[in-house]
Amino acid sequence: MGSATIEMHGVRRLYEQADLVDLIALDDIDLTIEPGTFVSIIGPSGCGKSTLLRLISGQESADAGRITVCGLTPKEAAEAKAFGFVPQSPALLPWLSVLGNVTLPHKVNRRSDRGRPDLEALLREVGLGESLHKLPAELSGGMKQRTAIVRAFGLRPDVLLLDEPFGALDEFTREALQEQLLELWEQTRATVVFVTHSISEAVRLSDKVVVMAPRPGRITDVIDIDLPRPRHQEIITSPEFHAYELKLRDSLRDAFSHGEVAS
Ligand SMILES: Nc1ncnc2c1ncn2[C@@H]1O[C@H](COP(=O)(O)OP(=O)(O)OP(=O)(O)O)[C@@H](O)[C@H]1O
Ligand SMILES: [Mg+2]
Repeated sequence: MGSATIEMHGVRRLYEQADLVDLIALDDIDLTIEPGTFVSIIGPSGCGKSTLLRLISGQESADAGRITVCGLTPKEAAEAKAFGFVPQSPALLPWLSVLGNVTLPHKVNRRSDRGRPDLEALLREVGLGESLHKLPAELSGGMKQRTAIVRAFGLRPDVLLLDEPFGALDEFTREALQEQLLELWEQTRATVVFVTHSISEAVRLSDKVVVMAPRPGRITDVIDIDLPRPRHQEIITSPEFHAYELKLRDSLRDAFSHGEVAS
């Protein structure tokens, strides 16, 4: 399939609620994600970020509108093994080592058109060289996240979906992992959709930041981040970076107040 364009037009997703009107988790979502770009989604809790990822990856279907991934429906794209998914709390198999967890999907899901990447080398690159044979129970939260990210990259997906992968980490570990994620991405150039609650993380990583508001879940702003790459740690302190943080902060403040007004 190669690099994937993701297109969403008029997408709506409803959830039934007992004794209440349907909850509009997503309403009228129009979004085009260009192939090979890094797009972040940011917005208040409950605005539909995780729902959006589930729709793109074909785990759930939209109630109205159209989604295509490189011209295919999400379910077709999933069957073609287009997606790598890193959920909020990575599900690692407790009885398998770091290396075992990372190599497992490759064994059960071999894609004949892609060479097997050197997964051990990838694990070393993200600082897990000493931990290849450890079990998940022996890892810190950040080590588990890195294992899940390498596992997702391992199949060289066309689209990588990451749902707050660094949410539970301290600022410095987060920044180090951002650097490693960007390096992996530069090598593979997958299309990335990345959910975060961190303004600086969204600015650092993204080509485009999508701002969402809740009730109903919708897109309120799309901000292009026109900063040069590679974006190493130092960029965080530059005036240009700070200007984007302020711009995103303003937009997000509006999104939070929209949610309150509408509820
Ligand atoms: N399976 C489900 N059944 C019913 N309602 C759901 C379901 N999944 C999500 N919702 C509702 O849809 C809305 C959007 O949820 P979603 O998980 O997409 O939000 P989110 O933006 O990812 O929030 P957070 O930042 O807290 O992770 C919420 O109001 C949630 O309660
Ligand atoms: Mg979520």
